[in-house]
Amino acid sequence: KKVVLAYSGGLDTSVIVPWLRENYGCDVVCFTADVGQGDMEMEGLERKAKASGACQLVVKDLKEEFVRDFIFPCLRAGAVYERKYLLGTSMARPVIAKAMVDVAKEVGADAVAHGCTGKGNDQVRFELTFFALNPELNVVAPWREWDIKGREDAIEYAKKHNVPVPVSKKSIYSRDRNLWHLSHEGDILEDPANEPKKEMYMMTVDPEDAPNQPEYVEIGIVAGIPVSLNGKDLSPASLLSALNELGGQHGIGRVDMVENRLVGMKSRGVYETPGGTILYAAVRELESLTLDRETMQFKDTIALKYAELVYAGRWFDPLRESMDAFMENITKTTTGSVTLKLYKGSVTVVSRRSPSSLYREDISSFENGDIYNQADAAGFIRLYGLPTRVRSMLERGI
Ligand code: ARG
Ligand code: SIN
Repeated sequence: KKVVLAYSGGLDTSVIVPWLRENYGCDVVCFTADVGQGDMEMEGLERKAKASGACQLVVKDLKEEFVRDFIFPCLRAGAVYERKYLLGTSMARPVIAKAMVDVAKEVGADAVAHGCTGKGNDQVRFELTFFALNPELNVVAPWREWDIKGREDAIEYAKKHNVPVPVSKKSIYSRDRNLWHLSHEGDILEDPANEPKKEMYMMTVDPEDAPNQPEYVEIGIVAGIPVSLNGKDLSPASLLSALNELGGQHGIGRVDMVENRLVGMKSRGVYETPGGTILYAAVRELESLTLDRETMQFKDTIALKYAELVYAGRWFDPLRESMDAFMENITKTTTGSVTLKLYKGSVTVVSRRSPSSLYREDISSFENGDIYNQADAAGFIRLYGLPTRVRSMLERGI
């Protein structure tokens, strides 16, 4: 028997290795996905995994796939959860879980395991992806089974099983980082009345300390997907890293919110999404030129549902996939460029251009043109306002 474990090298996942061997009598293959969580987290992993008792460590670089196939579709859809959350963790779980299903096949494993708690969203996202891609895999979630309650228990368990306790001091916050975002939960944030500490932030400078000079960035977009930065074509992951750098320097993309988790509870989280915030502003702005009114309004209503599905781990559901086909079709003409000004935490759109723009200066201008006849408006308004006139007449006994 063999199990593939989603492994980060931290204390929790290190302890899961001997626990799986002891309680399930199986070989443990550790799997680490590189989704842009940073080199610090990737260092010395193989040595650590083996020291914990794993028979093998598999590492896969998923960065381009993550941005291209998971992040950019959400961006194109305009998916935002509960008015604010740009879904950084929600998008990462299905790409990681999908790779785990592949690894299980490659190494001949019959089970997969993860280190998510039984109180969160992540367990659902992992497991719905396993169900969708290989319903025959057994799933083990130690946090829902074992007696280890906290950090002290985990350290004790590690010592008893000769697992080296990771030296890196555990941060007081529960964090999740990838190329799109960094999330912070726990500690003082658990009281929604507490303002986050300045030192907590890692991807963005405090807007108050950002440069006094604004910086302009130009994003090139083809069919709703960003392709270039300041005129230079970049791969999805490189484009995003470059924008994270720029956005971070200007304090862009901090969100502090209380959200509704799938398991019913509310939770307070703080997110840093510097590059993503710029990209959302750019794509949304270009659509103001390329989408007609009805399409844009309809797209916005279904974007809400799209975000809910992604948040809830339903990435591989036929509904999310079909909505994505709609998004792809409707944004075929969303091509062009948007220039934005970054300044002390704000992103301001200053320019937008598109060869498929529906905006016509000859119609919209205050100068008179031939296509739009102002006299037509009189009849339009009388019929458009007919219900208003009828109601008013009734109220007045006319
Ligand atoms: N609340 C966010 C979400 O559900 C972030 C979760 C962060 N996950 C973590 N394992 N720290 O998507
Ligand atoms: C966890 O509980 O494992 C992290 C938080 C979440 O999944 O929402």
